[in-house]
Amino acid sequence: MILIKLGGSVITDKTRYHTVRMDVLERLCGEIAASGKKVAIVHGAGSFGHIIAHKYDLVNGLKNDAQITAVAAVSRDMRELNLMVLNSLIDAGIAPISIPPSACFRLKGGRLDISDVEIVRRYLDIGISPVLFGDVLLDDELGFSICSGDQLIAVMAKKLFPEKVIFVSDIDGIMDRDPADPAAMLIKELRQDEIKQRTFTSKVKDVTGGIWGKMETMFDLSAHGLECILINGMVPGRLQSALEGKEVVGTRIRKG
Ligand code: IPE
Repeated sequence: MILIKLGGSVITDKTRYHTVRMDVLERLCGEIAASGKKVAIVHGAGSFGHIIAHKYDLVNGLKNDAQITAVAAVSRDMRELNLMVLNSLIDAGIAPISIPPSACFRLKGGRLDISDVEIVRRYLDIGISPVLFGDVLLDDELGFSICSGDQLIAVMAKKLFPEKVIFVSDIDGIMDRDPADPAAMLIKELRQDEIKQRTFTSKVKDVTGGIWGKMETMFDLSAHGLECILINGMVPGRLQSALEGKEVVGTRIRKG
């Protein structure tokens, strides 16, 4: 089984509220189907989650009444996006099942606390692809908070030991300097001890840590012996190549 994170930055336009990139989503689902691999998928939120979550500071928990309506709106929007992902997967010939994290996981201080992934394993066993997503969850300390798709990936990967973990984003990978610098070069392989010397920037407000958060997740997983690769899903064919184990443009993470 291969674990895939479909980043919100690739399946949505992160700068425009509630805007899916349907053509990209459909193509990526087609690539997954064409690879013939058994997969579990976690998708991000993009403009279906981050904009309202940031506006109402949902990641830091319950502080005022206005947030309650915002929690409901983010939860509703995420289910809408999830339904579009499910439809695209089914149209591509994959049998997915939605596992809404708010119904089976809880947070404590923003970290996943209850993390029984048996339900994910059981669906995989019978040939169904579980689909989870970054979501707003109950939090035992904060009332509620945001659980990123990357946090779900981390828990699932450590318990399910996938063949590899593929992070699909809208960048080619990690660059050796500010990507706006014309001299920036792609880092094909990155070690944990190299990251401290580097700086990364993000244009869009991201309540769950952006590229830094993703890097941390990838290093954490590689420390557990898992193979991780970050690829650009905006470029046709890269996800399929990564799934099939072919040479592909991206950044692989390995232990320092
Ligand atoms: C965020 O999930 C979830 C919400 C804001 C509800 P992610 O952090 O995994 O989303 P992306 O991939 O960055 O958009």
